[in-house]
Formats: sequence, C-alpha cells, structure tokens
Amino acid sequence: MTKNWLVTGGSRGIGRAVVEQATARGDRVAVFARKPATEQWPHPDRVVEIHTDLTDSTAVARGVRTVFERFGSLDVVVNAAGVHRGGRVDTLSREHWDEVIGTNLTGAFELARHVVPRLEAGSALINVGAVVGFRGFPGDVAYGAAKAGLHGLTQVLAVELAPRHIRVNLVIPGFVETDMTSALTGRARERILAAIPLGRTGLPAEIAQVIVGVADAEYMTGSVVATDGGLLSSFASRS
Ligand SMILES: NC(=O)c1ccc[n+]([C@@H]2O[C@H](COP(=O)([O-])OP(=O)(O)OC[C@H]3O[C@@H](n4cnc5c(N)ncnc54)[C@H](OP(=O)(O)O)[C@@H]3O)[C@@H](O)[C@H]2O)c1
Repeated sequence: MTKNWLVTGGSRGIGRAVVEQATARGDRVAVFARKPATEQWPHPDRVVEIHTDLTDSTAVARGVRTVFERFGSLDVVVNAAGVHRGGRVDTLSREHWDEVIGTNLTGAFELARHVVPRLEAGSALINVGAVVGFRGFPGDVAYGAAKAGLHGLTQVLAVELAPRHIRVNLVIPGFVETDMTSALTGRARERILAAIPLGRTGLPAEIAQVIVGVADAEYMTGSVVATDGGLLSSFASRS
C-alpha cells in the first residue's frame, strides 16, 4: 500500500534522500522548506513542494492544511529541517541561539502541534536529532541544546500519542556530507572523523534508509536510533 509522507527539510541533504527513497517505492511526499529544491526530482509527479518556514507558526498551520487538502491523510511525518550555527557559550550570539532553537526545536513543536491532531492510528512521526544532542561537543552550545530538547520532545510525544497508536522516534545521524557540514573547517572535520569508528562520514542516503525503516517499524516508539558509524559509542568511551 502506498503511503503519504510529509518531510520537512526535504529540499536538500538528508530530507531530500528520504523523499527520493519514499517516492522510489511509489509513495507521495509533501516537502516543507523555505526555498524550492534546486535539483530535479526523480519522480516529480509524486512530490508536492509547499514553501513553509518552520519558524513561522501561521505558515506551518497553512502548510499542514494544504498537505491534508492535497493528500487527504498522512502516514509518515519526518522532521528533518534544521540549521546549524556553531559557537561556544561565550562567543555564540543571541541571534544565532534563537535561530537554532527556533528552527530545530520550536519548529519541531510547531509542526507536531499542527499535524498531530490530524494523524490517524498507525502513522509515524520521526524527528531527526543529532549525536551532539547526547554528548557535549564544544562549540555546539545552541545546536546541542536544541537536539537534546528534540530528544525530550520525542519521548513525551511517544508516550502521549501511544494510546492513539501513533509512533514517535528519533533518528540521530553522526557526521553526514551535506550543505550543513560543507562549511566545516579542515581541523574540525579531522577531529570528528578521528572519532568515528567506521572511519568515514555518512551519506544522506544511508540516513534515509534508516528513516524509511523506522517509518515501517510497527513495534518501535520512543526510540533513539543512532546512524553514525559508531560516533556515539566512541564519544561515550571517552567520557
Ligand atoms: N549533516 C549532518 O552531519 C547532520 C548530523 C546530525 C544531524 N543532522 C540533522 O539532519 C537534518 C538535515 O540536515 P542536513 O545536513 O540534510 O541539512 P541541509 O542540507 O542544510 O538541509 C537543511 C534543510 O532544512 C531546511 N530548513 C532549514 N531551515 C528551515 C526553516 N526555517 N523552515 C523550513 N525548512 C528549513 C532547508 O531548506 P531551506 O533552507 O530552503 O529552508 C533544507 O531543506 C537536520 O535536522 C540536521 O540538524 C545533520
């Protein structure tokens, strides 16, 4: 049976890889992002782009309404939208703190509060967290806090929505080659690479493969699924 998906951040990177894998199996996907995708979709007839800024509550409400008008129902919601602004506690600006928390955490809450009332039994909500939400990574004060908050949000929603048979899980990528990580300096990149037991960075398609699997996993809720080449374990062994 084909499914209807909503993927935030689906225009690029990990979100886009999810869209490609879902549409490859015949599913339909609505994409939320502020700007249009710059690359052509492999199955354009199965993708609906709805330009939506997750930091704008009214826009999210409107976007969710449009998805339900187009699809009628949703089976899978993937919250992959995110921004990264690096900085330690004494260097990060308040503006960057607000941007990171506003997009990665408050944006996830906004999405959930508008979409959850319309979800039916059997549907799945997947948040995309990060390893740095679980381990203190210097220079990631806002991003680490936002992703840790997303873990808390995921656990609460999993418990709140279980009686309605809606599953909520968190997939946590390690270091993945996307626009988000392309700006990292050589030194920072080398430091992270040295901590990845599998010895390489991940590909968006490798994270998407896990997200698609979690979407299908009917007895999984409230779980944290690391997809990180062992990065989380490696950080753990150092602490
Ligand atoms: N890459 C990594 O190593 C890594 C590691 C751990 C976790 N993650 C997480 O994985 C997710 C995807 O990351 P990525 O690496 O694929 O990032 P990316 O390539 O930079 O893509 C980010 C996506 O989020 C969208 N987005 C950003 N702000 C938005 C907003 N306010 N409203 C709506 N959409 C917004 C972007 O579209 P627009 O800019 O057009 O809005 C884009 O589609 C993020 O949650 C990220 O934190 C990534």
